[in-house]
Amino acid sequence: MDKSLYHASSYPLRVSNGRDIGAGHTRGCWLEFSGLATTLTQDDPIFVEAMHAASARGTLLSANKLANLYLILRYAMPDSRAHIFEFGSYMGGSAVFMATALKLLKREARVFAFDTFEGMPETDPVRDLHRAGDFADSKFDGLVQYIADNDLRTHITLVKGRFDETLPGILAQEQQGPGLLHIDCDIYEPIKYVIRTCLPRLGAGSHIVLDDPLHGSCLGAFDAVQELLIRELDLTAEQAYPHLVFRYPSLPDA
Ligand SMILES: C[S@@+](CC[C@H](N)C(=O)[O-])C[C@H]1O[C@@H](n2cnc3c(N)ncnc32)[C@H](O)[C@@H]1O
Repeated sequence: MDKSLYHASSYPLRVSNGRDIGAGHTRGCWLEFSGLATTLTQDDPIFVEAMHAASARGTLLSANKLANLYLILRYAMPDSRAHIFEFGSYMGGSAVFMATALKLLKREARVFAFDTFEGMPETDPVRDLHRAGDFADSKFDGLVQYIADNDLRTHITLVKGRFDETLPGILAQEQQGPGLLHIDCDIYEPIKYVIRTCLPRLGAGSHIVLDDPLHGSCLGAFDAVQELLIRELDLTAEQAYPHLVFRYPSLPDA
């Protein structure tokens, strides 16, 4: 597989079953088997600066997951003006990572970082292992300060509160919809809620990236994917490593 493909300008690379399986294979294989994240660290100053931002704030995401988000937002989004909605930001590491990349790429788009920033709300006692109050130590004031100090205010908006309290207002207020959903909130009900609520606003071939469903502690997240994305919407995954990626609406098969 040609490594240069990951930055090909002509996405989609190869469409099958409504997703770009060429892109999924290229990103997944180069990240998993050929050290692409390390290559980016050596060759790509935008990636390097975004990684600095992620570690300055702290993130639970691996380098491969951050690199995959970077490859999608930099090369594969059909509409570069589309916003990024992140559901589950905690200390803000992955959010400032993406906002820094947008800023350095001189994009008009911004990251909307949705979180209570005060920990998990109620969780499903059977499906979810996480419990209310997990991740309460988000150091929110430090995140606000980091954004100001690093001139990121035009590329990130912090949306504080439960998703069901905040998302409808943001969708109503923003003319430009999201083109990338980064869903990292771990638990069953909110994952179904945010996807279902964003669906009508997703432009052609938007990416839905799910951090959690393949983790041992997040079977509720996998339940949400099975029920909504696979059974109900009949979608097929574009990528399963380093995290699940779906496209919605499905890409037209060639
Ligand atoms: C695993 S952490 C996010 C990690 C983060 N992306 C990073 O870079 O480290 C999950 C977050 O989801 C948030 N969360 C879960 N359900 C939520 C809901 N319904 N509304 C708002 N925030 C929620 C929690 O508060 C928690 O901070």
